[in-house]
Amino acid sequence: MVHIYRLLYALFVLILFTLFGCKEYDKKLTSEKEIPSKPIGLKQNYKDDFFIGAAINHALIEKRDSLGLELLETEFNSITPENIMKWMHIHPGKEVYDFSLPDAYVDLGERHQHFTVGHTLVWHSQLAEWVTEVKDSTELKEVMEDHINTIVGRYKGKIDSWDVVNEALNEDGSLRESVFYELAGEKYLEWAFELAAEADPEAQLTYNDYNLTNPEKRAGAISIVKQLKDKGLKIDVVGMQGHWNLKGPSLKEIEESILAYHNAGVKVAITELDITVLPNPWDLEGAEVSQNFEGSEFMNPYPESLPDSVQKELADRYQSIFKLFLKHKDKIDRVTFWGMNDGSSWLNGWPIKNRTNYPLLFDRSYRPKEAYHSVLALKN
Ligand code: XIL
Repeated sequence: MVHIYRLLYALFVLILFTLFGCKEYDKKLTSEKEIPSKPIGLKQNYKDDFFIGAAINHALIEKRDSLGLELLETEFNSITPENIMKWMHIHPGKEVYDFSLPDAYVDLGERHQHFTVGHTLVWHSQLAEWVTEVKDSTELKEVMEDHINTIVGRYKGKIDSWDVVNEALNEDGSLRESVFYELAGEKYLEWAFELAAEADPEAQLTYNDYNLTNPEKRAGAISIVKQLKDKGLKIDVVGMQGHWNLKGPSLKEIEESILAYHNAGVKVAITELDITVLPNPWDLEGAEVSQNFEGSEFMNPYPESLPDSVQKELADRYQSIFKLFLKHKDKIDRVTFWGMNDGSSWLNGWPIKNRTNYPLLFDRSYRPKEAYHSVLALKN
């Protein structure tokens, strides 16, 4: 009899434990779920949407910018070299290549496991002087073969995406009279993409340009995509640089462009995003950028700090742009900012030297700005 009581008691305790013990455990699980894991960085928050990249300069590649390196680790999962892979730096003489910084850049990308971009193989700007002495299309083809095979071959499997041709278009959608075009006509585009694909068949290949939201230039970019595809050549991405301002391009123009490139059968990358808050000399009647605006208070209105109202305007602009990117995340591969923070942005020196611009998400002390929080808020 005593045994039966003991057995019933044990059973009772077991039932109690099952009921309340598990409840406790459940509660713990639920409350753990209720507290969202600490949001860490843009890259983490946008990991299911697209890569978040930054253009990095030589100070960062040489590890002289420790705060920049920290930001790179927490916020970004893709990198683009701001200057060091451009022709004049990587291939300064016909027989001379300089791989010291590009090697360090690619090592950095491998160590951080970043999606690593090569910028850029064929571009009329920041070109080595000697290329302008090339005589004819036969020699140009040999030069391009050597340039692309050597560079893409060296980083095969390490550079994930190449900006194969940069800024080949005029504003009206026609091809720019670069040294490449003058010697070979539109053929040079085909050579570039063909050579890049042969040198690394796995790498993503991009045509990259600015103002690709303008309908005429957009049509030009789409005809490049068609030309290459018709020839059976590989082109994976159109890179819209994204050097934008507080008002333009409109969200409608950006959206129409994303859709147009998607319909042409390529992915879209936003490759050089920054939003200037300063007046643009081209908007002034009769203004010539070659005119000297340096030192003009009107053209450099915020030398000390950005007023709250403009800070807010920038945050709203970034938020609406990222909202649109999220809407079309299936078409967008990567969004890369052109620089890490306001202090290192090229827009402090272009198109007018010595200005104080505020175009990025991190301020001069590498602190997140209101615009950073507005972009992050879309994911929380
Ligand atoms: C810019 C760099 O940011 C500057 O440091 C350099 O002096 C000039 O070039 N389009 C491009 C980029 O494809 O390579 C340019 O980068 C900005 C415009």
